[in-house]
Amino acid sequence: MTERVRSMIVTIDGPAGAGKSTLAGRVAEELGIPCLDTGAMFRTLALELQRAGFDPACASGPGARELEQAFAACGFSLEGVGAASRLLCRGQPVGDEIRTEQAGMAAAAVAVLPDVREFMKKTQRALGDKYPLVAEGRDMGTVIFPEAFCKIYLSASTRVRAARRLLQLRAAGRDADIREIEERIRERDVQDESRASAPLRPADDAVIVDTTDMDADTVFAAIMRAVREARAAAPVAVRMRRRDRETGSEAVSDLLERGEYGVLSLDDGSSWPYAVPLSYVLSEGAVYFHCAPSGRKVAIMARNNRVCFTVVADTEPVYEGSFSTYYASALITGRVFPVVDEEEKKRVLVLLAEKYSPAHADKAGMYAERSLKNTAVYRIVPELLSGKAKRRPSQDG
Ligand code: DC
Repeated sequence: MTERVRSMIVTIDGPAGAGKSTLAGRVAEELGIPCLDTGAMFRTLALELQRAGFDPACASGPGARELEQAFAACGFSLEGVGAASRLLCRGQPVGDEIRTEQAGMAAAAVAVLPDVREFMKKTQRALGDKYPLVAEGRDMGTVIFPEAFCKIYLSASTRVRAARRLLQLRAAGRDADIREIEERIRERDVQDESRASAPLRPADDAVIVDTTDMDADTVFAAIMRAVREARAAAPVAVRMRRRDRETGSEAVSDLLERGEYGVLSLDDGSSWPYAVPLSYVLSEGAVYFHCAPSGRKVAIMARNNRVCFTVVADTEPVYEGSFSTYYASALITGRVFPVVDEEEKKRVLVLLAEKYSPAHADKAGMYAERSLKNTAVYRIVPELLSGKAKRRPSQDG
């Protein structure tokens, strides 16, 4: 589909120990979107196969039927935004048992199987259809999301990657021999780079960042620079005409926290714009609102979930030799999804009641229970956040 071209997906690929996971989490946090750790998917699948009694590395490994069963058993889904993003397996967050070196080796072994790659491709692309993502792995930019609007490839010398792994292990209270770690990393590189299907390599249009002599903050800054540059070139990006009035993502979140109402703009394809004022809450990096389960808005969102949501606050008309207004505004471009999980729905209804009727917050839970059945709740997942403000000069300093 051509409309997926330049979709809001940032890919971060690279070899084991290049720092992908840490950085992907930080980038996702900054952008306010979910982070997908695809290595964790391969690790989970590998452990699932081991549990079923298969050694993925040996010739008598799993057959097509066993693989089908393991795929079905994984039931991957994604929850949360930014650093709080979690990969779920059968509705439960994946556990720490996938983080061992052995699980990593087993993952690399199953990753060579063409059926496994096909399954992962289908599952990962489906997640990309549902959410804007920072997707981290080995083949995100080359095979899974070739249309991603920004692609990063992180590399580092084997020595430095081994040293970083050792620090991680020590921080977790474990110890290991650096030479052994280095040897394992080398083995895994060979396995990842030499497999026939989706080998590890940078996409032609990837920004390559050699992190050997960089600390995490410097790498983060380099990635965010690449994201900003790609965003400036991407059609979805909304550039501020007045760059001096642009506010940072913290100011935008702060404004969304404080804002009273917002306006949701929808496109029903008829060339008549449709915009509706809404009460809303900001929770875990997403904007939530509620409405009746049917109606014009609901019908449009079901057909086209691309929306724009704007909030204005802190308005104050001023006269400074000419007429003007102080204000702060936020604009979210993103996708809207119905919230189906009952707990999430209840949480949002409680937050809404608390925000708009703080004097009656004690009854929020009861209200949420009662309205659950006849109220729809929607979540806007931002693809682009921008903010603009003109403040009293004293407030800026
Ligand atoms: O990033 P990681 O160490 O958690 O990944 C574990 C293994 O999974 C890696 O050695 C190869 C495989 N993998 C892959 O083949 N493709 C991906 N997109 C992610 C991981």
